[in-house]
Amino acid sequence: MSDDPFWSSLSDLMHKAYAPYSQFPVAAIVRSTSGATYQGINVENAAYPQGWCAEASAIAAMVTAGELGIQEIAVMATGDALCTPCGGCRQKIREFAGPDIKIHCYGPEGLRATFTLDDLLPHSFGPDHLR
Ligand code: THU
Repeated sequence: MSDDPFWSSLSDLMHKAYAPYSQFPVAAIVRSTSGATYQGINVENAAYPQGWCAEASAIAAMVTAGELGIQEIAVMATGDALCTPCGGCRQKIREFAGPDIKIHCYGPEGLRATFTLDDLLPHSFGPDHLR
């Protein structure tokens, strides 16, 4: 796994997640259409619904840098179950990505599965609907 750049960066990022309530750290890396990468972690809150997901953090970092296109996204979480982006994050990804982009799902040991956005959010609603 050490030759997988997503895996090593995600492994480092996991330690920065702020997940004192769920004890479920999540890390995400977005690769934009320019090729640059943006990192994010989940940030929980004592007022539980105010917490946000790792994917949302990474997308916010990308947009803050002035980029509006996602080429690829990688997510890491612990546990035996495959951690795919939650429903809300699938829609957040959709705002900046077409149906064919790849979403890589990692566990601590390495890559577990890769999906397209269309696999996870078929028949999606997106910015084109409002143009
Ligand atoms: N979480 C993420 O950061 N991304 C996901 O795709 C799934 C869930 C976070 C939210 C919360 O902080 C914790 O995982 C447990 O739901």
